[in-house]
Amino acid sequence: MKSKVKYICSQCGYETGRWMGRCGQCGAWDSLEEAAAASPGAGVGLGARGRNGPAGDLSDLSAGSLPTPMEDIDAGGHGKTRIDLGMPEFNRVLGGGLTPGSVVLVAGDPGIGKSTLLLQAVCKARMDSGKAWYITGEESLQQVKNRGDRMELAYDRVMLWAQTDIDRVTAAIQQEKPRIVVVDSIQTMRAAELTASPGSVGQVREAGGRLVAAAKETGVPILIVGHVTKEGSVAGPRILEHMVDAVLYFEGERHYQYRILRAYKNRFGSTFEMGVFEMTQNGLIEVFNPSQAFLSQRLANAPGSAVAACMEGTRPLLIETQALVCPSGYGQPRRMTAGADYNRVCLILAVLEKRIGLPLNNQDAYVNVAGGIRVQEPGMDLAMAAAIASSFKAKPCGGDLALMGEIGLSGELRGVPYIEKRLSEAAKLGFKRCLIPGTAKIQDPPPNLELCRADSLFKALDIALA
Ligand code: TYD
Ligand code: MG
Repeated sequence: MKSKVKYICSQCGYETGRWMGRCGQCGAWDSLEEAAAASPGAGVGLGARGRNGPAGDLSDLSAGSLPTPMEDIDAGGHGKTRIDLGMPEFNRVLGGGLTPGSVVLVAGDPGIGKSTLLLQAVCKARMDSGKAWYITGEESLQQVKNRGDRMELAYDRVMLWAQTDIDRVTAAIQQEKPRIVVVDSIQTMRAAELTASPGSVGQVREAGGRLVAAAKETGVPILIVGHVTKEGSVAGPRILEHMVDAVLYFEGERHYQYRILRAYKNRFGSTFEMGVFEMTQNGLIEVFNPSQAFLSQRLANAPGSAVAACMEGTRPLLIETQALVCPSGYGQPRRMTAGADYNRVCLILAVLEKRIGLPLNNQDAYVNVAGGIRVQEPGMDLAMAAAIASSFKAKPCGGDLALMGEIGLSGELRGVPYIEKRLSEAAKLGFKRCLIPGTAKIQDPPPNLELCRADSLFKALDIALA
């Protein structure tokens, strides 16, 4: 008889039928963990919509075992009636609310605020009927209730359940069909027949697979919390990424109050969207005007600071980039970034050196994006270059100036998409001038904004540091 368990390497995902002390693929010691051989995760998504017959039985080729015309398929609630979570920033990241039957993984470092976010979401969700469930495997019912009270949430339609047995969870979902389910966290859920401890690859994969199957069968949307493990190995929520419908990362610097919710995968919306939140005493507050928040602490005329007009998804964002350039002590100059992309900063330093003639090869350079958030968009290049040049020359970059543009290797300034949106955001925040790529075509520029055009980095820096 075929054995019912298999072993998976927690480092590389290698699968084998028998236990070994050392992984046969990556050679890691003691990394094999037990998992169920016939995983429901393998057939994810079939559910009630056209299930296969029993494996190996090919005698019955009736409905469901052959392809169906696409136009005959009942799309159900998918894509039509989204659930409004009562938090516009969260809805936006999901692509306009929570899709029925979808499974969303909310991943992030421990302590970043995932439980807080999801408790707020279940309490605020706009549901015409039914209940929202919050299943906690980490905190006690009292702790969750205390947190809800402290955040002054209305929880009249929320059911709490302290449960870690995944089969009880899925059976209850199938029977009661709640409107929304939150599972906090996947690392505490366990399938009773596996001896591996909760949080191991096998358990996480199994629990995830069963939750996905339950969601597809019942149409109940499930939000799963997953802690990201430091090693970044396959253990942890990453092994769920392929089976869930959406993966959202909740991130931020722990010592800053801002938190960003970002979509990395989304079968029901764009993956470029982000939502901005502020962690306060009373839970998370949505930041509807992030540009203003991120610029609030800027010293407008300090050298080494420049404001980038960039885009995050469909949303314009004005953000301060800062640079500090100073002579290196000895050896290789240091280059450090926080928020900005390291390789991009190196490229910009090289262009400044070669095309503009700034002798940066014996200078340390530190480049930050203020507010502790990570924005990576080519349109930020110009602001980063201006901040670096401004610090090097100890000349401030105009305090009323916002910059946009991608820098090419020849030192040319390249166009960026959504220029009008960026311009109107800059005008709204009181900027007087905007530095834009020379080729940009603009339909109707905001009235109180002076447009300065430059087709090269050289010319742009001339204007910015005048
Ligand atoms: P939590 O949601 O428990 O994080 P996670 O579920 O991702 O592990 O939140 C963790 C931190 O957030 C906690 O250290 C304290 C802080 N916090 C606040 O600052 N204000 C609040 O209202 C709440 C609930 C938490
Ligand atoms: Mg938590």
